[in-house]
This record gives sequence, structure tokens and C-alpha cells, in this order.
Amino acid sequence: MADILYTHSPEETEKIGEDLAKSLKKGDFVALYGDLGVGKTAFVRGMARVLAPHAAVTSPSYSLCNTYRGNIMFYHFDLYRLSSEDDLESIGYYDLIENGITAAEWCENIPTSIPEHALRVTISRVSGRDDDRKIEMK
Ligand SMILES: Nc1ncnc2c1ncn2[C@@H]1O[C@H](COP(=O)(O)OP(=O)(O)OP(=O)(O)O)[C@@H](O)[C@H]1O
Ligand SMILES: [Mg+2]
Repeated sequence: MADILYTHSPEETEKIGEDLAKSLKKGDFVALYGDLGVGKTAFVRGMARVLAPHAAVTSPSYSLCNTYRGNIMFYHFDLYRLSSEDDLESIGYYDLIENGITAAEWCENIPTSIPEHALRVTISRVSGRDDDRKIEMK
């Protein structure tokens, strides 16, 4: 079953990430899907408000992973530039995701490496409305 929500601003998208984060525990994995600039990082920024309140969330595009320190470690991947799923091992992906809570942007690029228990969050634009987004969670 999927939950479908609509937001009308970046702040509303952050709030959904924030609400979700309240129920997460070590080992949980949030797989984010959606086009360039759709709002994935905004969603993660909301999650960080709960998981690592003092962290400044920036896009880890070049580093592939940012680590934010909270009560539980919070790992923020952006896999846009990952060239092959085989490279996940060398960036420590498998060890990290067991050790904390993970949010990963561009999971389109790692179709066979997402944990089975992952929560899949797909963000998409709503035609004709600049600031509207559809957020599907399953
Ligand atoms: N309802 C909304 N939810 C989220 N972002 C919105 C919304 N409406 C407008 N925006 C704008 O969309 C952009 C989302 O940027 P963000 O960096 O979060 O996207 P992204 O999906 O992480 O992009 P990338 O694929 O480059 O990592 C911001 O400029 C934000 O202001
Ligand atoms: Mg992003």
C-alpha cells in the first residue's frame, strides 16, 4: 500500500520528511526517487531536523555521502554521479547503512542494492503548478 501526499512549497516537503524521521530507527533506509530538482534534498533536510538537528544539510553530489551526527548516525547519499553499483562497496555503503539511518537520493541508479525493507519515496511534479509536488511513499 502506498501513501500519497501533495505539497505546495519546499517547507511542506521538509515537514513530511521531518514527520517520517520521527518513526525511524537504526538500519532504516529511505530510498528517494525523482527528477533533478524535484525536492529530494528538501525532504532530507526535514529528516535531519529530527535526526541531526545541528547538521547543515547540503547536497553530497560530489562526495556521494554526507554524514550527519545525531543520536543515531544519519547518512545522506546522492547517487546521481555513481557510475556503477559495483562502486558502492568502495564508498562503504554496505557498512554505513547498517550502522545508522540512511536517506539516499537517486536510487534509480542502484536498483539491485536497495535493502528489501527500504521505504521508497517518489517525488514528482504536478503539471502546471510550479511549487506543487506529489510524494508517494511505500
Ligand atoms: N513543493 C515543493 N517541495 C520541494 N521543493 C520545492 C517545492 N516547490 C518548489 N520547490 C523547489 O524545488 C527545488 C528542490 O530542490 P532540491 O535540491 O531539494 O531537489 P533535488 O530533488 O534534491 O535535486 P537533485 O536531483 O539535483 O539532487 C528547490 O529549488 C525548491 O525551492
Ligand atoms: Mg538533491
